[in-house]
Amino acid sequence: MFDTRQLSKTNDFAPHRRPASDVEFDGVFRGLSADVPHISPRWFYDDVGSALFEAITRLPEYYPTRCELEILDAHGKQIGERLGQRTAVIELGSGSAQKIGRLLPHLASVRAYRPIDVSNAALQATSLELVGRFPQLRVDPVHADFSDRDAMHTFLQRAAGTDDAVLFFPGSTLGNFEVDYAAALLEGYAQGLRPGTPLLLGVDLVKPRETLEAAYDDPAGVTAAFNRNMLAHLNRRFNGNFDLAQWRHEARWVPRHRRIEMWLRCDEPQVVQFGEQRIEFAAGAGIHTENSHKWDRPSLHDLAETTGWSLQDWWTDRRGWFAQALLVRQDDQHKADRLTATNTGEHRPN
Ligand SMILES: C[S@@+](CC[C@H](N)C(=O)[O-])C[C@H]1O[C@@H](n2cnc3c(N)ncnc32)[C@H](O)[C@@H]1O
Repeated sequence: MFDTRQLSKTNDFAPHRRPASDVEFDGVFRGLSADVPHISPRWFYDDVGSALFEAITRLPEYYPTRCELEILDAHGKQIGERLGQRTAVIELGSGSAQKIGRLLPHLASVRAYRPIDVSNAALQATSLELVGRFPQLRVDPVHADFSDRDAMHTFLQRAAGTDDAVLFFPGSTLGNFEVDYAAALLEGYAQGLRPGTPLLLGVDLVKPRETLEAAYDDPAGVTAAFNRNMLAHLNRRFNGNFDLAQWRHEARWVPRHRRIEMWLRCDEPQVVQFGEQRIEFAAGAGIHTENSHKWDRPSLHDLAETTGWSLQDWWTDRRGWFAQALLVRQDDQHKADRLTATNTGEHRPN
């Protein structure tokens, strides 16, 4: 039996904001009525979406989870040594927290685990499971949006005041954001943390189109159900009436952006009631629901350097399909040197 005193009450940060539903409704409505209709991927994750994502991770075509677990199993000891004496792990988008379970045995000094997720169901279930498996660990689940930069800044600054934390961001979840936005997130995290703080980041790597597209469009239709469930989630949350049967799943590799794009497309015109608003979609219209950017070592090095981090280490699975990148929060001198080098036209060595 685990000791429930190990498990803190779920924390919600940013309580000072306007009621979440107004802000959220405005954001989703703006996205759906934009020239290119789109929805933030965070809306995949209600209880059903979290369960469907777990089913995706077990599909034969969906390699990222297996590759990332392979890396943690093969290199966990070395990763633990490189992370050094940390007292806490903060995980962004913890989901089933399967990966931290592989890493914790190599992080002997860690006393606290702070999973952050928008899915309350995932957060509660996995926190309880971890408390059961690691009796010495204190688990502080945080129900929040890690893309809320102001709230994250406050949260990380507070955490940095009490702990020597490592930030853990697996699952290539950062790749779901537009590259500029991903850069802004990394920069924001760096600003809230002390120099030298490590970030262990899971990133999916560029590979042949067939492998990529199969991973996001499986023949069993699980990814299609996951994609469509987003509309069911919006219906429930915002009093909408999307007819799920009218929307088909699309996944395609877009080499120009080095990303998989997922869309929902309707063949017939649709008029959708969304709260008090109506939204019209022409026949053939699409809603862009997800990007999944793919990286290589040089592009990740550049992303890190320009956002207040340095790429210090890099581990891949045997096939070189996925990587764990160890980034370290730069100190101010490094940033100043970098800025001077940029202004004088020096380039990074290859
Ligand atoms: C791709 S899954 C990865 C799950 C897990 N980290 C893994 O590697 O298997 C993304 C996770 O991040 C959560 N998530 C997505 N967007 C989020 C956001 N903006 N803020 C907090 N959590 C988010 C989802 O609920 C989900 O659990």
